[in-house]
Amino acid sequence: MSKDLQKVCVIGLGEVGLPTALYIKEKGLEVCGFDISSRATERARAMGIDTVSLDDADADVYVICVSTGFRDSAPDMSPIIDVCRKIAEKNADLVAIESTVIPGTCRKVYNEVFRGKIPVVHVPHRYWAGDPVNHGVKQLRVIGAVNEESLELGVDFYGRKLEIPLHKVSSVEVAEMSKIAENAYRYVQIAFAEELRMICSRLGLDFNEVRGACNTKWNIEILEARDGIKGHCLPKDIRYLASLTEFNNLLKCAISTDQIYQEWIKRGEK
Ligand SMILES: NC(=O)c1ccc[n+]([C@@H]2O[C@H](COP(=O)([O-])OP(=O)(O)OC[C@H]3O[C@@H](n4cnc5c(N)ncnc54)[C@H](O)[C@@H]3O)[C@@H](O)[C@H]2O)c1
Repeated sequence: MSKDLQKVCVIGLGEVGLPTALYIKEKGLEVCGFDISSRATERARAMGIDTVSLDDADADVYVICVSTGFRDSAPDMSPIIDVCRKIAEKNADLVAIESTVIPGTCRKVYNEVFRGKIPVVHVPHRYWAGDPVNHGVKQLRVIGAVNEESLELGVDFYGRKLEIPLHKVSSVEVAEMSKIAENAYRYVQIAFAEELRMICSRLGLDFNEVRGACNTKWNIEILEARDGIKGHCLPKDIRYLASLTEFNNLLKCAISTDQIYQEWIKRGEK
């Protein structure tokens, strides 16, 4: 396995893709980017990232940071599949999927789109725009791959070239699952705090005082309850997890608890 992995194309130049491209450039690699949105492309160019059409892109590594969402309330992985169909026509050495996906997506890309010819790793993002220095591109990341060769290339690229600390897992499916599970876990924790706050209010108790008292116990950490669970990642990822099997009772309750809480906040109850 001795591949150069010097030329990188970042696909999807949004909230995580643009800082990713900038970080890779800062590390001395040759970077270009592609996005279907002219706004995203212009913003990237203004920040020093060359942009290309996907047809013209010629890179060793393709880093995929496109948006993922829902179609008819089912997880929609089509933006990933669409860009991978284009990459399949090229001589890529490695494809790194950083977007959040449901388990099975990366292997489907490897088997059905790349026909086993292009190595694939999944390195889900944990980006938090609120603190990009500590929780940005270069934070501890999980890496999983479709096979040993892909994992070696991924570790060489992310670990050695980009100096990103990595937690290796035994399969790409574990990496995919870890991302949606960590966000769903946080969602459930917040929903618990929200419900407790409503219970305390109904009983005339100070939620923050109750929370502070509970949190003096060594294994308890009740979170704050603020304005409801906002942003797109946590609400999307818990729904991805809930969509996978019939074992989703707690997940569905957490989603409806947050809806009830947001209504409660809107009514001005405290
Ligand atoms: N924003 C975060 O904090 C965060 C954190 C962790 C994971 N993620 C995940 O990373 C992925 C990207 O999130 P984001 O916040 O950067 O989204 P975003 O909406 O800010 O950016 C996504 C970009 O992808 C582009 N795009 C969509 N389809 C495309 C296609 N077919 N070809 C080229 N470009 C395409 C869009 O035009 C957009 O500019 C999502 O899967 C998200 O769940 C985001």
